[in-house]
Amino acid sequence: MATILVVDDEPKITHLLDEELRDDGHEVVVANDGDEAVRLIAAKRIDVVITDLRLGRTDGLEVLRRAKKADPSVVVLLMTAYATVQTAVAAMKEGAADYLEKPLNFDKLRLVLERSLESRKLAAENRRLREKVRAGDVGADSMVRGRSRAMAAVMALVEKVAPTEATVLLTGESGTGKEVVARAIHELSARRDQSLVAVNCAALSETLLESELFGHEKGAFTDAVERKLGWFEVADRGTIFLDEIAEMKPPTQAKLLRVLEDRRFHRLGGSEIIEARARVIAATNRDLSREIHAHRFREDLFYRLNVFPIELPPLRERQEDLGELCDHFFERAGYRGPGMHAQAQEALAGYDWPGNLRELRNVIERAVILAGTGPITKAEIHVPERRSIPPPIAAPATAEIEAAAAATLSEQEERMVRDALARAGGNKSKAARLLGITRRALYGRLEKYGIDAEDH
Ligand SMILES: Nc1ncnc2c1ncn2[C@@H]1O[C@H](COP(=O)(O)OP(=O)(O)OP(=O)(O)O)[C@@H](O)[C@H]1O
Ligand SMILES: [Mg+2]
Repeated sequence: MATILVVDDEPKITHLLDEELRDDGHEVVVANDGDEAVRLIAAKRIDVVITDLRLGRTDGLEVLRRAKKADPSVVVLLMTAYATVQTAVAAMKEGAADYLEKPLNFDKLRLVLERSLESRKLAAENRRLREKVRAGDVGADSMVRGRSRAMAAVMALVEKVAPTEATVLLTGESGTGKEVVARAIHELSARRDQSLVAVNCAALSETLLESELFGHEKGAFTDAVERKLGWFEVADRGTIFLDEIAEMKPPTQAKLLRVLEDRRFHRLGGSEIIEARARVIAATNRDLSREIHAHRFREDLFYRLNVFPIELPPLRERQEDLGELCDHFFERAGYRGPGMHAQAQEALAGYDWPGNLRELRNVIERAVILAGTGPITKAEIHVPERRSIPPPIAAPATAEIEAAAAATLSEQEERMVRDALARAGGNKSKAARLLGITRRALYGRLEKYGIDAEDH
């Protein structure tokens, strides 16, 4: 249930506590003095510390402070044979959850333990909810499933794999929602109360990535002035999300492979063996088979990660979801206006979305800023014209191509004019300057396209 550190200089007491707590199903670690306790606190994820107040050099209050510093949510229970109101009050002020008098009454201990673990769970839950709100779009509940067949297939896989311990490899173009799906898997798993640690493998240098993943001991390299826990250790029984895995350098790939095989590792420069209990979800927008072919990605690591692959479809292959996604992004952007014109919807539907959901979100956010509380017309939808879906294979006649090109050109001009006006807040001189044309030339365009500058 919980990992409990028991600290007492009397072996009889630690032994007794060890037995009783193990019987209750907890994992127990024992320290016989304060210094050892402090070492264990730095090295291990501990849920509860039960410590004697009077220890040798490093006393119980010091252990309490160190434990709280390492993890403010840790539950600390103090024991002493010399219970006085004063020390009790001091200990509570420092963050002790409760105070136990010796000789220990185990029923009382159980009660106190249960109560503090419960409140810790609630606090963790609240924190998780707060983080979720802050992150805005994470979690299964804020995820749009859509009604496309492609997405239904993805969600079916997500629901199947989430409750298992299987390693998941998420692939798909940039912005298709790999991170959102990774979070959904975590939320739908039994690990949901533990943390999800997301590591961007592309954002770190090789040594940094290694020490970020596995931690390091003090002095392991020049800048290692203190021991640092790696993400694997921090994720502990939770989930570790290795984003942009294809960017990981071969030496780090080799290390990761070993960890996934042995389920154990040690910190850089350290010898202590640490269990790797985190569930692994990896993601990439690259074609890993091509990376393997180019000897940039280890094939054996690929097989380790590819236990349960899920490929996310690009947005252009799930057009049916566009409406629901738009509603979702409008709501997220806080849109209060009357809605979207048909032409605006057509503009969205006619685009091929190389940046997928992220690009759609950005386009909608921008449209909402431009529209304020007004309707969303085509003018507020800014998608590059030339990315629109090419016509089907049948080759059009030259005249048609020319007509299409001409239409595109004037449409682009109109868009640029509207864009400039919007950016200039409707100020015509400023818009003309932005476009690099004279005011007169701008007036000509406004008339040509029937644009009313006051609208912008
Ligand atoms: N199913 C979904 N429902 C609602 N919003 C989504 C969904 N999927 C993705 N998004 C939105 O799209 C954006 C991009 O998603 P995400 O960051 O998960 O993409 P990604 O595949 O990890 O992209 P990249 O490869 O560029 O890292 C997110 O900000 C999120 O708001
Ligand atoms: Mg991502």
